Amino acid sequence: MKFLHFSDLHLCKNRSDLLYGINPADRLVKALRHVQQFHKDANFLVITGDLANYGEKSAYEDLSSIFENFSIPVIIIPGNHDNPKLIDDIFPIFDGKIQDLKKGIWLGKEIRSEKDCFIFLDSTGGVGHSGAFPIERAQDLDRRLTENADRHIYLFLHHPPLCLGVPSMDPIRLQDPFYLQSVIEKHRSQIRCLFMGHLHRPIKGSWRGIPFVIVRSLAHQVEMNEPPKGDGGQWQIPGNDETPEYNVITIQKENFYVHSERFLEKTRKFWL
Ligand SMILES: [Fe+2]
Repeated sequence: MKFLHFSDLHLCKNRSDLLYGINPADRLVKALRHVQQFHKDANFLVITGDLANYGEKSAYEDLSSIFENFSIPVIIIPGNHDNPKLIDDIFPIFDGKIQDLKKGIWLGKEIRSEKDCFIFLDSTGGVGHSGAFPIERAQDLDRRLTENADRHIYLFLHHPPLCLGVPSMDPIRLQDPFYLQSVIEKHRSQIRCLFMGHLHRPIKGSWRGIPFVIVRSLAHQVEMNEPPKGDGGQWQIPGNDETPEYNVITIQKENFYVHSERFLEKTRKFWL
């Protein structure tokens, strides 16, 4: 079992539009070219939110057209930059067995295999750009975890539920993680990992004993440290041009491992 993790595409209204001097659509096209060359055997590709920077319909239509001839099924969840209602209207839901997962873009709920279960969570709806996880979402997760008690669980959401030492991003994390926390505590032994985005930084760690992996954006990145602010000192996010990446996750029985593919880096290749 192998899957790919993309996050934070930030597609714009038109294919040629630049965001902070970067063309997000071009980045996605190049990432998919790299996938076709090296990871065509993946079972699915998941994008953990911020598909579109301003949530326009044309950006989601462009997403569909970029993936048109892509051979791997694609699962999406919304992020704080998205329009969840539009995503709901445009993309069909997938909630079922892995053998029924066909090529196309699906709004993800759950994928079950014999041994594993991948659960896709909506963390949108917080104040401003922050995330939310109200009791109704926690109850749905609790039900899914109970139904899949004999499977290893991999969870996907956009907003991390903890502070990560990034002063500009910590205030817009998941604001009410308490319901999520209590469900995770209840089913802790089943849960293998949380996969997230939002930070535009490569971060690994553990939340309440559960490992987590945050992948870089396919577009712009965020500085860990906050540079001195100009006049006014208002809340701003410091960006940078670090290379984008996507992650490749391989699951082998009890174990899994994560590789980062920095698909734009031009590095020398040689034998040791
Ligand atoms: Fe983002």
